[in-house]
Amino acid sequence: MQAQGTERIAFLGGGHMARALIGGLLRERIAPAQIRVGEPRAEAREALAGELGVEVSPDNRHALAGATLVVLAVKPQDATCALQALYASGSAAPSAGAGAAAQPPVLLSIAAGLTIAQLARASPPGTPIVRAMPNRPALLGAGITGLYVPPQTPPRARALAELIGRAAGRAVWLRTEDELDVVTALSGSGPAYFFLLAERLARAAQALGLPADTAELLAAETLYGAGVLAHQVAAAGPGAASLAQERRAVTSRGGTTAAALQVLEEGGFDALIARALQAAAARAAQLATGTGIPAAAAPEDAGHGSAPSGTREATPASVYGPGHRL
Ligand SMILES: NC(=O)c1ccc[n+]([C@@H]2O[C@H](COP(=O)([O-])OP(=O)(O)OC[C@H]3O[C@@H](n4cnc5c(N)ncnc54)[C@H](OP(=O)(O)O)[C@@H]3O)[C@@H](O)[C@H]2O)c1
Repeated sequence: MQAQGTERIAFLGGGHMARALIGGLLRERIAPAQIRVGEPRAEAREALAGELGVEVSPDNRHALAGATLVVLAVKPQDATCALQALYASGSAAPSAGAGAAAQPPVLLSIAAGLTIAQLARASPPGTPIVRAMPNRPALLGAGITGLYVPPQTPPRARALAELIGRAAGRAVWLRTEDELDVVTALSGSGPAYFFLLAERLARAAQALGLPADTAELLAAETLYGAGVLAHQVAAAGPGAASLAQERRAVTSRGGTTAAALQVLEEGGFDALIARALQAAAARAAQLATGTGIPAAAAPEDAGHGSAPSGTREATPASVYGPGHRL
């Protein structure tokens, strides 16, 4: 990969996730001048330019000019429209050798559900394509991102995906594209599950007599403290510690925690969680159908380096284990 200082990164879409990732890239010592954003909403443009010092344009073609990496950060249904600009921007970056052909920018999509085959159909031939599924704690550099590249994707695309993974926090390489739907259900949507749990705990404590603000403070700080402990488990690596061990450490036999956990178990907690995750993963897969881009790839898409029609191939095993920050 060319030196990080020479990358030119274009974001299509300047909403919540773009803001989180750009903040992370700046922490990774990417200069604001290396980043441009295409964003239709004036309010969002002003906020991004003011807070992060990057150039933001209402014209995607301007944002894409000279880009080496394009981050697709729009809702799945806006992807076709946003990607149109790739055809008109002349965004191919100059390559190292004199006289060598310009390289097309790497396209990295964070849009839930949209497949490599669909992205290939909606972008110019030869575009290297990577998918990433970050989550909202990326805002604080505390995110976890699932990354997937099809086989035969150039190494520079993998390196750029890892740059985005580092910007968001920590990242893990996935073996198949299908795993991205599960990652979307688990960590992509996951922060909301923990917030819901904390909200409901606070509400239940209020019903037991605590003032609302005290209950919310206790629930939020408990979620934070448990999160820090869980983070230590993840950092320790496989075999060194586990979430189950942490749970057992606060569950004395016949005690208060055991009484609550028994109620959850008897109430079908496991089955409910399993159903919730299945619903989220199914919805992620379904999102691809509302984009206007056919889900199955045509044979002519093969030149994009994408998975062949209807298939999702495995990436050579390259999963970053716990404790390995990209
Ligand atoms: N939020 C999360 O926690 C999360 C986590 C993982 C992945 N993602 C994925 O990240 C993507 C963005 O999510 P988000 O939460 O950041 O959404 P968001 O806040 O709505 O940001 C998307 C932005 O893109 C703009 N946009 C719409 N059409 C565009 C176009 N043609 N060209 C350029 N910009 C355009 C939107 O403007 P308008 O508002 O005017 O349409 C909006 O400002 C989604 O695909 C989502 O699946 C989100």
